[in-house]
Amino acid sequence: MEYINNELHLGPKKKNLKSLLSNYKQPIYVYDLDFIRARFALMSQALQGVRIFYAMKANSNPQVLRCLKDLGAGADVVSLGEIHRALENGFTVSDIVYSGVGKTRHEITEALKLGIYQINVESLPELERIGEIAKSLNKKAAVALRLNPDIDIKTHPYIATGLRDNKFGMELSLIPELISCLKKNSESLDLVGISLHLGSQMMEFEGYQEALEKLKKIYKTLQSEFKSLRKFDFGGGLGIFYDRLDLAKEESLLKEYAAITMNSLKELHCELQSEPGRWLLGHAGVLLTQVQYIKKTSHKKFAIVDSGMNHLIRPSLYEAFHLIYPVEKKNQESLFDVVGPICESSDFFAKDRMLGEVQEGDFLAVMDAGAYGYSMASTYNLQDLPGEVCI
Ligand SMILES: Cc1ncc(COP(=O)(O)O)c(C=O)c1O
Repeated sequence: MEYINNELHLGPKKKNLKSLLSNYKQPIYVYDLDFIRARFALMSQALQGVRIFYAMKANSNPQVLRCLKDLGAGADVVSLGEIHRALENGFTVSDIVYSGVGKTRHEITEALKLGIYQINVESLPELERIGEIAKSLNKKAAVALRLNPDIDIKTHPYIATGLRDNKFGMELSLIPELISCLKKNSESLDLVGISLHLGSQMMEFEGYQEALEKLKKIYKTLQSEFKSLRKFDFGGGLGIFYDRLDLAKEESLLKEYAAITMNSLKELHCELQSEPGRWLLGHAGVLLTQVQYIKKTSHKKFAIVDSGMNHLIRPSLYEAFHLIYPVEKKNQESLFDVVGPICESSDFFAKDRMLGEVQEGDFLAVMDAGAYGYSMASTYNLQDLPGEVCI
């Protein structure tokens, strides 16, 4: 982002945000498709030979999906709703990996009828359920086992997924039972891969490296039992900086992550795949919102805006930090709490934030809101959902 003539401009092509506000009616998410293209290119280059399944829970905007499909991405989905959204926007069943801990009978049945490329299995009862449903449909389900190595990647506890207290993946001690379930159901289950995902916003790789080593051994054990095994689906989701824009450092972290992954997994000679979301989308989006009131108390100044935790829940849910800039630059600095209209004290975007001297009617840009923004939005307090526009 950059101010040009005191107006905020977004992305590598310096797009003027003010120009989007002439018919403003409600808060809007703005996504920069050029930025997404640039990030996808960087990631594909660093992870050569890896098939990228975009984690569409990060942002399932139809134009964003079409853009990523055109770039060659597959889709990582976590519900039947996401399967349908992906299929409506250019993806085919052979582009879709289906993850998630709570797949219902109905969802599994539909996924199998459709012929979804790969189902990432999160528990033994889920594996048994998939085997049973596939048998009844006379189908063979391509499954990958999501394993939980109990490793800490030092991210926020609400987005860690590879610890033994997390609901995700399966304990390594379960392997013998998984093998016997797969063998018992060999007519309906085809073991094609193993999957590792330690959580989101991963910025250091010690734990990740350890997890890869652990799972590599398991891959080899399973390979000796199942000739069909040929894929390794890897993650932690690579993190981004929210407190500053440092694309060069993010690129160097990407390269480090890629080198660790490739060096560790090359001896398996298997197909590699990954499911990034945040790294591709996070910086590509901003949320534009209008100041409704400036409310002064004896010790605080609130900028009350027309968007809140109902549109962007990250600050409330994870105490996440987002940079905020006035769309038109202000000269004098002043400290504000930026808060929304929702009847919860957790409804804030920023606390004690140095902004320009903003006033009623001014617009603010909440930065880096392209991932886990609109896709987590709700109609709480019966507020409308925000708008979305791609530029
Ligand atoms: C299994 C799985 N795949 C993909 C993702 C996307 O992660 P990110 O958006 O950090 O890339 C997550 C997020 O936690 C996940 O659990």
